Amino acid sequence: MSDPLKDKSIVLGVCGGIAAYKAADFLRVLVKAGARTRVIMTEAAQAFVGVATFEALSGESVWTDMFGGQDGAPFRHIAWAEEADAVVIAPATANTIGKMAHGIADDPLTTFILAVRAPILVCPSMNTNMYENPIVQENITRLERPGITVLRPEAGSLACGREGPGRLPDVGTIAEEVRSLLCPNDLAGEQILVTAGPTHEPVDPARFISNPSSGKMGHLIARVARRRGAEVVLITGPTALPDPLGVRGIRVKTAQEMFDAVIGAAEKATITIMAAAVADWRPANPLEHKIKKEEMAECLPLERTADILKTLGENKKSQILVGFAAETRDLQQNASAKLNAKNLDLIVGNLIGQADSGFGSDTNQVSLFYRDGRNEALPLMEKSALADVLFDRILEMKQK
Ligand code: CTP
Repeated sequence: MSDPLKDKSIVLGVCGGIAAYKAADFLRVLVKAGARTRVIMTEAAQAFVGVATFEALSGESVWTDMFGGQDGAPFRHIAWAEEADAVVIAPATANTIGKMAHGIADDPLTTFILAVRAPILVCPSMNTNMYENPIVQENITRLERPGITVLRPEAGSLACGREGPGRLPDVGTIAEEVRSLLCPNDLAGEQILVTAGPTHEPVDPARFISNPSSGKMGHLIARVARRRGAEVVLITGPTALPDPLGVRGIRVKTAQEMFDAVIGAAEKATITIMAAAVADWRPANPLEHKIKKEEMAECLPLERTADILKTLGENKKSQILVGFAAETRDLQQNASAKLNAKNLDLIVGNLIGQADSGFGSDTNQVSLFYRDGRNEALPLMEKSALADVLFDRILEMKQK
């Protein structure tokens, strides 16, 4: 699966708050992801941002006037509602939230909302006092029901000069919430533990042993799992990547730290996917002070790190265990040997050393090796698409 937003029809409702200008940026994110977008603006929204901005970005005329002479006017609310795959209201003001909570339909946005069957994401944004007003809170709670998700505002400094909750979340965060609304919820109830990235094994305070893993594969697995409804813990070695939205991130440096974190979290996990490139060896005696280059050779005796996945395999009960095998040759033989040695259900084998596959790339070309001896060569695909295939196969395995 590519970006869940691709080719989806998303209707964006913009209300009259200072954050209305951020809605234009959000619209750009949707368009860039390949979504078909339509915009409905309340009258107050037009006092903050011009209709032309949204028309230019969406490539469609913006709906502003209930009885205006635009095409298909009398039934536009029905037609747009039927075509929508998801609806986002950002920013959502106290006024529109109040109307939605009580079924009032007196403008294009609230009329349209009553006809929508697709998932709706409401992103309240307003002054802290207004947000914390018990009536507004009651209305927000009333809205939270199947089909409507409320993305709570962030706390921070607001345009009115106050500090507190009320800020519209970052546009990337809103987009990720929409992706998760568009994805199947087929991993709901699963507790998924994912590891990602390399580990750093210190030689001295200035040097470490590591590998080129970027962490992208593990991070995307965690992200896709969360989009599909799982509760996700991501244990990641040093990477530049931020924790995916809605995922509990634990940052570690060394193989031993990763071992401790994984063992601590593994008990609860129903599915564990070890995508991290854990160092197999570490300096036996990391030094407190920087060693001089002339002394380096004598100072580098190595010792094995603990094999995390093997330990999990030895203690495996009903959980699904998935490993990764990065190989430069004899993929089937090496990957199958690791699957057996570590008591895994599935191992993802990839031949590294190609530009568009493996460490650091956005795409990957892998073969899946199963416990029963089957294997499946997958075509080159985006790492996020691979994460989806992986979960499809894991769910098939769980159904058997
Ligand atoms: N792994 C682990 N703990 C380690 C090393 C690896 O849990 N100390 C996990 C990796 O996350 C991956 C799988 O084991 O899922 C890789 O298996 P491994 O036999 O370690 O592969 P390589 O490190 O590539 O081994 P080799 O150098 O022998 O090919």
